[in-house]
Amino acid sequence: MEKMITVLPGDGIGKEVMEAARAVLHVIEKRFDHVFTIIEKEIGGAAIDRTGEPLPADTLASCQQSDAILLGAVGGPKWEGGAVTPEQGLLAIRHALKVYANVRPVSVFKDLTALSPLKEAHVTGVDFIIVRELTGGLYFAKPKERRSEDEAVDTLAYHRQEITRIVTKAFQLARKRKKKLTSVDKANVLETSKLWREEVRAVHAAFPDVTVEHMLVDNAAMQLIRKPSQFDVIVTENMFGDILSDEASMITGSLGMLPSASLSENGPALYEPVHGSAPDLAGSNSANPFGMVLSVAMMLRHSFQLEEEAAAIELAVQEVVRTHVVTSDIAASEQQAATTSDVIEALVSCLEIEAATA
Ligand code: NAD
Ligand code: IPM
Ligand code: MN
Repeated sequence: MEKMITVLPGDGIGKEVMEAARAVLHVIEKRFDHVFTIIEKEIGGAAIDRTGEPLPADTLASCQQSDAILLGAVGGPKWEGGAVTPEQGLLAIRHALKVYANVRPVSVFKDLTALSPLKEAHVTGVDFIIVRELTGGLYFAKPKERRSEDEAVDTLAYHRQEITRIVTKAFQLARKRKKKLTSVDKANVLETSKLWREEVRAVHAAFPDVTVEHMLVDNAAMQLIRKPSQFDVIVTENMFGDILSDEASMITGSLGMLPSASLSENGPALYEPVHGSAPDLAGSNSANPFGMVLSVAMMLRHSFQLEEEAAAIELAVQEVVRTHVVTSDIAASEQQAATTSDVIEALVSCLEIEAATA
């Protein structure tokens, strides 16, 4: 198979974890006889420094011509408070590619249950997906402005059609899983949430085999910690999904474990770990690359239908975790922590051994 992939390392540890993605893709290419043409472009702070823009036109053009896009992370103290920010580049690319559905799976590796800050019995077997609306709500709705020295405005608005498409996507996913959908909102206060609930009920008619529950977001934040195993598919608006997914990541032991896929109706999808550029870790060769690498697996499965290849990567991650070649965020102790490069090396040799024994 021949595919074109634009890779956007971005800033901070985005660059470091993208090395892992490239290394893993390279082994997959050789092992399964594919040709992946990789085009690297700038986004975020790196792009601002060179061009003044967080999403240069040639970066976007390359993404639009690609079969899929991999993104590391953007941002950092260097650009904070500037008139142009790295985060604007991330929002702009999501908007331009119309990737309204951000799928964030949360599953606990069996060899990591002891490392979750939650009790082992509570996290064993946890496996759910957060479906986050990604191109609407507070992040994008107008007006959005700094009107005066003393007042600033963001708007929370949703059009019915924006809700229909994300909720439909979530129902479709739930239908293929345990058939349970939890819609998270704040319908006791927000008008957008009332419309959201109304739309969930309407779309439910087409998915009678799926059980639906509505949960207020504050309760959902608590339930994620109390009993995470109760969830199968969670669907929610942009900002709630952002916050709940970072919270949910800790059930797995680290924010560095979570991958994501951002999907549009048609057109290339964008794959990125859930974490950010981690300025506190940048340059120290200690970032956990699994969220990025598992995002590569999601890309192979969803964009290219390469199930066997995706499963090979997931198996390699599982094996490397089992043999404790892990970074300090999930290592049993600081002394036992591996570097990002060690993890990459272990992943590559694991994929090669799998090939030799296949
Ligand atoms: P962050 O996700 O970068 O880091 C939060 C904490 O998690 C830090 O302590 C960090 O060390 C740790 N962490 C994150 N990823 C890790 C990994 N792979 N391995 C081990 N530890 C990891 O969030 P933040 O510190 O709030 O934000 C830093 C910058 O990143 C900001 O500029 C923010 O806007 C940006 N950001 C970007 C994205 C993105 O590009 N998708 C996502 C979130 C934050
Ligand atoms: C994420 C990040 C972004 C978001 C920021 C960096 C704009 O936190 O991808 O989760 O809020 O969507
Ligand atoms: Mn986030």
